Amino acid sequence: METAAPAAVIVAIDGPSGTGKSSTSKAVAAQLGLSYLDTGAQYRAITWWMVNNGIDLTDPSAVAAVAGKAEIISGTDPSAPTITVDGTDVAGPIRTSEVTSKVSAVSAVPEVRARITELQRSIAASAAVDGVGIVVEGRDIGTTVLPDADLKVFLTASPEARAARRSGELKGADVKATQEALIKRDAADSSRKTSPLAKAGDAVEVDTTDLTLQQVIECVVTLVEEKRTSE
Ligand code: DC
Repeated sequence: METAAPAAVIVAIDGPSGTGKSSTSKAVAAQLGLSYLDTGAQYRAITWWMVNNGIDLTDPSAVAAVAGKAEIISGTDPSAPTITVDGTDVAGPIRTSEVTSKVSAVSAVPEVRARITELQRSIAASAAVDGVGIVVEGRDIGTTVLPDADLKVFLTASPEARAARRSGELKGADVKATQEALIKRDAADSSRKTSPLAKAGDAVEVDTTDLTLQQVIECVVTLVEEKRTSE
């Protein structure tokens, strides 16, 4: 008798920056054979396009008017995720401090969120139909994008730990300045009107302050496996 393949599992991982979301999500997806989607990269990509096209980002109606213009394609292999805008590889350019400082303003515009949310749902739906499953990381995945996800995880960490990790990634950036920038971006992302950064009521909260990345990965893998066996 053939053993049935495990059903596609949809995992939402949310939380502020510097909590280990991306590293955890990629590793969990790779370990469990799931696809992976970095939704922050999509907001960064649309921001990059707007900067490149001279859109006035201080004017939400100007941003809204062009929210559907750029073609954003995300590659969902966790060992080599990709992102292109109108066919151009923007994996590097979307990580500049200019894009980082502007992404919260662009991602607060409801027309941008509607457009990117639709894209995210269609990627998750394809992964489910293919029987593969997916780990989707972001800020509003459990609350808004995929409220029916099989598992929702909300990662947190102290502001000090988050800033230390981010400045390590930015190779020697000043920890204090990084902490201030992080706090500012989190405040903007948490206070916007449309689908702010928030923990879903049914999400499992994991405080990563005193955990190694490996421990966080193991914790989330266990949560996914428990979910799979309970269904
Ligand atoms: O995860 P990140 O730092 O690359 O995300 C960049 C920005 O994108 C973040 O400051 C807020 C926005 N974002 C969002 O509004 N909703 C998401 N689901 C993911 C990111």
